[in-house]
Amino acid sequence: MIKKAEFLISNTDVRKCPEPDRPEYAFIGRSNVGKSSLINMLVGQKSLAKVSTVPGKTQLINHFIINDSWYLVDLPGYGYAKISISVKEKFQKLISDYILNRENLYCLFVLIDVRHKAQLIDVEFITWLGENHIPFAIVFTKADKLGKVTVEKHIAAYSLELQEIWEELPPILVSSSLNGTGREEIISFIENVNNSL
Ligand code: GTP
Ligand code: MG
Repeated sequence: MIKKAEFLISNTDVRKCPEPDRPEYAFIGRSNVGKSSLINMLVGQKSLAKVSTVPGKTQLINHFIINDSWYLVDLPGYGYAKISISVKEKFQKLISDYILNRENLYCLFVLIDVRHKAQLIDVEFITWLGENHIPFAIVFTKADKLGKVTVEKHIAAYSLELQEIWEELPPILVSSSLNGTGREEIISFIENVNNSL
């Protein structure tokens, strides 16, 4: 259960992040996919994380402390346009530095807009995570924008695409920041990891 959520610090340098002395969970994905909105939905506060209709709103590494005991992190988005330039060239050094060096990052939630077909930039990013042994889960966002059956269809199609490159699928969650879908599941997922430490 999330009883308390507070903003801690924003910065541009992984070395200036809070001491890595508590479990940490971060949210990543293309710009505008709904990272900041999802954090607000999970903590039950309207504007703890800054949300915008204009892509590129979150430009810093933002730490929030939950129940005085673990961190949620809002990250900037990667990839503004649907062009197939290598993701490594595209996404900011800030993000890769953070992901590769943050020792208490127990799970990176990779957000994918459930409405769209698999995009190269996301698939390349997920592949890069695998190559670097980063623990991650996929969260499909904006489920309220489609009917339930369509959501299931899209996730099944996406899973098939992933299975072409992955033997085993990562954990897959579905969310809507608008109506709270997935809130319990994502919080339970995090609590299970916390309890297993
Ligand atoms: P950047 O910080 O720019 O990378 O974007 P972000 O991924 O943090 O997205 P943000 O949470 O700012 O949301 C972008 C837009 O999508 C806003 O207009 C949100 O209201 C909208 N949005 C986010 N999540 C949902 C959702 O679950 N359902 C619907 N319908 N809209 C959403
Ligand atoms: Mg944001």
